[in-house]
Amino acid sequence: MIISIAFTLLSGLLYCSCGPSDKIFNDLLDQQNPSSGKAPKTDHGGQPPFKYPFSFAHTGAFTGGWTRQVTVRDLPIAKAMAGVQMKLIKGGVRELHWHACAEWAYMIQGTCRITAIDEHARAFVEDVTEGDVWLFPGGIPHSIQGVGDDGCFFLLVFDDGNFNEFETFLLTDWFQHIPLDILAKNFGVPQSTFANITHEEMYIFASQMPRGLQEEKTAAAQGTAYVPNPFSFFASKMTPNVTKTGGLVKVIDKRNFPVTTMAAAIVTLKAGALRELHWHPNGPEWNYFLKGKARMGVFAAGGKHRTMNFEEGDVGYIEQSSPHYIENIGTDDVVFIEVFPTDTFHDISLGEWLAHTPSRLVDEHLFTGEKFIDGIPKTKQVIRP
Ligand SMILES: *[C@@H]1O[C@H](CO)[C@@H](O)[C@H](O)[C@H]1NC(C)=O
Ligand SMILES: *[C@@H]1O[C@H](CO)[C@@H](O)[C@H](O)[C@H]1NC(C)=O
Repeated sequence: MIISIAFTLLSGLLYCSCGPSDKIFNDLLDQQNPSSGKAPKTDHGGQPPFKYPFSFAHTGAFTGGWTRQVTVRDLPIAKAMAGVQMKLIKGGVRELHWHACAEWAYMIQGTCRITAIDEHARAFVEDVTEGDVWLFPGGIPHSIQGVGDDGCFFLLVFDDGNFNEFETFLLTDWFQHIPLDILAKNFGVPQSTFANITHEEMYIFASQMPRGLQEEKTAAAQGTAYVPNPFSFFASKMTPNVTKTGGLVKVIDKRNFPVTTMAAAIVTLKAGALRELHWHPNGPEWNYFLKGKARMGVFAAGGKHRTMNFEEGDVGYIEQSSPHYIENIGTDDVVFIEVFPTDTFHDISLGEWLAHTPSRLVDEHLFTGEKFIDGIPKTKQVIRP
């Protein structure tokens, strides 16, 4: 009896004549992901997905703004880094807090007031605007406040895939869990001082605007000093490291931003341009698409290669040393950010590898003729038109 039921089920699976009909497709997602529906013939193998749109992430809304995150729990390949989008209204505060991992940030819109102290209690207060960056090392306490006319909108990247934006060390959460007599003893004041502390964490709350920047800097630095190396970096004003007909690259790492423990590149690709075939020998890449339409092809060794499509608000992840390319397949610029959990940006391009290897040896692999190999530019191209 059991055997005959099993046989019926099995033959049902083997011989089912049912098939997908157009009605069961999600047309919008198919249009956005042509490289999945009709993959290039060169794609092969069961590579795990390396894309996660922020649009899929649960959004938490609060009086001072909203936030959502993409972590290893959403995108399993992204073990070493996680990201957060956050909007703060004018005056809205992401409360004083810290976390064990480092936080790298990119300002997408508006202006933020950020504050922190370093390990010598030296103060940091700064205003950053569209295109600027900050880095708070792990354990450094900090805050963010929207001060633009429409507040601010920014991207945060953490050097821990398992980071959880909803579980950080919050000042108000901690205060609620410290006995009043301990608070009174710690500060040498009566317990009544703490009569009005909140009994819910504040996290992201609407508030009044801060005082003037200079006034707040001076007051915060009293008794110690201002930090010698700021946690902010005005990338919006930086000269690009690479300027080509196909686009631009700004590299931000410890060479120009001494406090940083996370390297980054901000890349603009003109229509049709290619971020050349390359890999990063010293770390995985977490990337984020600010605008445009791109496709990214990633080789994973063992015969595996996969191509996926990216547009505004999408996150991508490339494991350490996996070679890849990014191509602008739209009509407008593509702008994307590459972030690494290491303090220095390094990449090796296919072109420079072949150009600096004996050409007979390369030709014995590729059969292109040595003329092609000798003609490869001797310097990294970074972007091809
Ligand atoms: C707590 O709030 C009450 C009512 O607003 C106020 O009278 C009191 O002064 C506050 N206590 C402190 C320590 O600020
Ligand atoms: C990028 O350019 C800045 C100056 O604008 C420089 O300080 C930095 O070292 C450069 N980075 C690389 C990787 O060349």
